[in-house]
Amino acid sequence: MKSSWFTAALCAFPAMVMASRLYAASYAGIVSTLSLAPASNGTGNLSVIAESTGCGPSPSWLMLDGPHDILYCLDEGLNVPNGSIASFHTNANGSLTPIKHIETISGPVMSVLYSASGVPDREFIAVAHYDGSAVTTYSVDPIAGDFNRFQTFNFHMDGPGPNAGRQDAPHPHGAYLDPTGRFVLVPDLGADFVRIFEINQYTGQLKEVSPLVTKPGLGPRHLAFWTPKNASGAQVANGEVDVYCYLVSELMNSLTGYKVAYSESESMEFTSVYEESTFGGQKPGPDGSKASEIAISPTNNHVIISNRLDSTFGPKNDSFAIFSIANASGTAFTKPSFLGLEPAYGVNPRQFEISPGKQQHLVAVALQDGEEVVVTTWDEKEGRTGALYAKKAMKGQIPAVVWDH
Ligand SMILES: *[C@@H]1O[C@H](CO)[C@@H](O)[C@H](O)[C@H]1NC(C)=O
Ligand SMILES: *[C@@H]1O[C@H](CO)[C@@H](O)[C@H](O)[C@H]1NC(C)=O
Ligand SMILES: *[C@@H]1O[C@H](CO)[C@@H](O)[C@H](O)[C@H]1NC(C)=O
Ligand SMILES: *[C@@H]1O[C@H](CO)[C@@H](O)[C@H](O)[C@H]1NC(C)=O
Ligand SMILES: *[C@@H]1O[C@H](CO)[C@@H](O)[C@H](O)[C@H]1NC(C)=O
Ligand SMILES: *[C@@H]1O[C@H](CO)[C@@H](O)[C@H](O)[C@H]1NC(C)=O
Ligand SMILES: *[C@@H]1O[C@H](CO)[C@@H](O)[C@H](O)[C@H]1NC(C)=O
Repeated sequence: MKSSWFTAALCAFPAMVMASRLYAASYAGIVSTLSLAPASNGTGNLSVIAESTGCGPSPSWLMLDGPHDILYCLDEGLNVPNGSIASFHTNANGSLTPIKHIETISGPVMSVLYSASGVPDREFIAVAHYDGSAVTTYSVDPIAGDFNRFQTFNFHMDGPGPNAGRQDAPHPHGAYLDPTGRFVLVPDLGADFVRIFEINQYTGQLKEVSPLVTKPGLGPRHLAFWTPKNASGAQVANGEVDVYCYLVSELMNSLTGYKVAYSESESMEFTSVYEESTFGGQKPGPDGSKASEIAISPTNNHVIISNRLDSTFGPKNDSFAIFSIANASGTAFTKPSFLGLEPAYGVNPRQFEISPGKQQHLVAVALQDGEEVVVTTWDEKEGRTGALYAKKAMKGQIPAVVWDH
């Protein structure tokens, strides 16, 4: 009996033979290091092995530079005039050694690392400031994890957008690098833009170029790029392969698909090819629900979006929306299709990250209001989030969780 139960448990959770590590940001002012170990009963066991208070009062976003063992943290500064950005060395025992911590414009919520070929010994960070209506950049010594403020872009609107309560001002919400590494993209929830910045390859400086203008009132939050798995950067830049951009809207709970083209002019071209609710069809979603994070599946043929405060699976049990975007041999569909909803195993999945690596994948979920980190399995065959693998109650609201790698 015992051995057959054990075999069944192993079949259900073939994945985590080895321990792995995660970092979680908490609005309680803590960045926690978590260890995920296989539990004796076949699921996973999450435990906190270190805590740092060095990021500031409201850690909102974590960005790991794995090759350099550096973790960057944004502090949204929710109840103070300024936000901040900090870097840490990630130690083998899980502790974080503070390197640098500087004040910023208020409300930093997401960052991205980029590089410029003419400045090979530096990296750069672009930061989206939701509350501060700005984008800032930082010039980074990637080995030391030291950085300095580099550029500041302040944005203004003449009047509120269609959703006056949320679109009172520009609200940059995300920061992404395009598949060629030539542009930084910043969805602006307040302005109904995806702002586009060209990277000067000689200096690393950003220059704002024509934005992608979205439907009024959409409230773009985050995005994900799709390219064929084996495509080279040159194939992407030369237009030899399909490139899509999938944009998640927080204010209309929708997924918009764009076909992307690179032209001679110094920007990117977007053609809208698809739009559907993150609850399927044209459904607006339950009152108060707001779609949040988006990712492409490891198999490259699904889009996963987290829905927040929708209670689709019962009270305090929100959902993931799954869309099919490409066939099994890796050809993108011109029209994706909504496959359905999967449980998030808690309330307000603000952000999630699929584990890196080539083997079995897991999904780590930051349940903001649930004050929990959850890890679900990844169903490779179906291309969906799966069973609950591990769960850990944390101190304070959890806006972000990332895998160490
Ligand atoms: C989970 O990890 C904790 C801390 O390492 C340990 O005390 C506990 O026994 C583990 N539980 C299981 C079921 O493995
Ligand atoms: C398995 O062990 C984990 C870690 O201790 C625990 O959280 C979980 O509830 C257990 N699951 C079952 C089905 O017993
Ligand atoms: C963890 O490692 C760091 C860096 O090696 C060290 O400074 C610190 O004392 C260690 N902490 C513990 C609790 O062992
Ligand atoms: C801190 O916030 C104030 C008030 O918004 C602003 O003027 C100042 O530039 C901010 N500091 C930094 C370093 O951005
Ligand atoms: C990608 O490359 C791998 C290894 O060369 C190959 O096995 C696979 O079929 C390729 N996939 C596609 C979609 O071309
Ligand atoms: C995927 O689509 C392409 C283009 O339509 C087609 O050639 C290929 O056979 C399809 N593969 C599968 C597995 O359906
Ligand atoms: C959420 O819904 C799923 C699917 O029905 C269920 O397995 C799970 O127990 C529910 N509750 C939580 C808190 O995860």
